[in-house]
Amino acid sequence: MILKPFMREGLFPLPVTFISTMSPDGVRNVAPWSCIMPVLRPLDLICLASAKKRDTLANIRATNQFVVNMAGAQMQDKVIPTAKNVPPEIDEFELAGLDEKPSHVVSPPGVAGCYAWMECECVQLYEEDKHVLITGKVLHLEVRDDVLDGEGNLDVAKAKPLIMTGKKGVMNYCTAVDLGSQESFAAMFTDGADPFGGKYR
Ligand SMILES: Cc1cc2nc3c(=O)[nH]c(=O)nc-3n(C[C@H](O)[C@H](O)[C@H](O)COP(=O)(O)O)c2cc1C
Repeated sequence: MILKPFMREGLFPLPVTFISTMSPDGVRNVAPWSCIMPVLRPLDLICLASAKKRDTLANIRATNQFVVNMAGAQMQDKVIPTAKNVPPEIDEFELAGLDEKPSHVVSPPGVAGCYAWMECECVQLYEEDKHVLITGKVLHLEVRDDVLDGEGNLDVAKAKPLIMTGKKGVMNYCTAVDLGSQESFAAMFTDGADPFGGKYR
């Protein structure tokens, strides 16, 4: 079947994160965000795509700070309440019934109940006609201990990362399943040595 190009996310499962920001006046804002990706390995950058009319973007422009909150499946009922287009004076934590997870190095709080938090500082805005790409440096990265396995890695069965695929006119929520198989990053390199291997120790 041939699909319309804009339907690519029907084939491309996306994480559902929440971006929390704060206005210069201290109004807390939260919005679901799926167009997000890490920038290469082992860089500490993360990239978000934003439409032009977003309070999130306005807050990042004004304060340079944001938190990427990684949501588990149990947060799915918070997606629509935080996606509503409300005026910037509205506290969206209150609106959506979310509690704060205090941040360590940035002003905007994280969202309690998420399984991981990336406190970020904006490093660059790439302005285009209809969108802006935001890159942020992850200053503080934290994960709930109860979603880790015995070796300190994410246990997806515990975290149940919230994912969505676009269906015709709907967001289809799903989560990740661990296939139980692993391969070393080092296997990508002809000499079998991961140049970044030392960074994980
Ligand atoms: C699951 C989901 C993912 C979204 N991802 C993005 C995104 O990546 N970029 C974006 O600009 N808007 C995205 N949106 C739309 C914003 O969340 C929505 O417009 C929200 O009202 C923006 O809030 P704000 O104006 O307070 O920033 C998404 C919405 C949903 C429901």
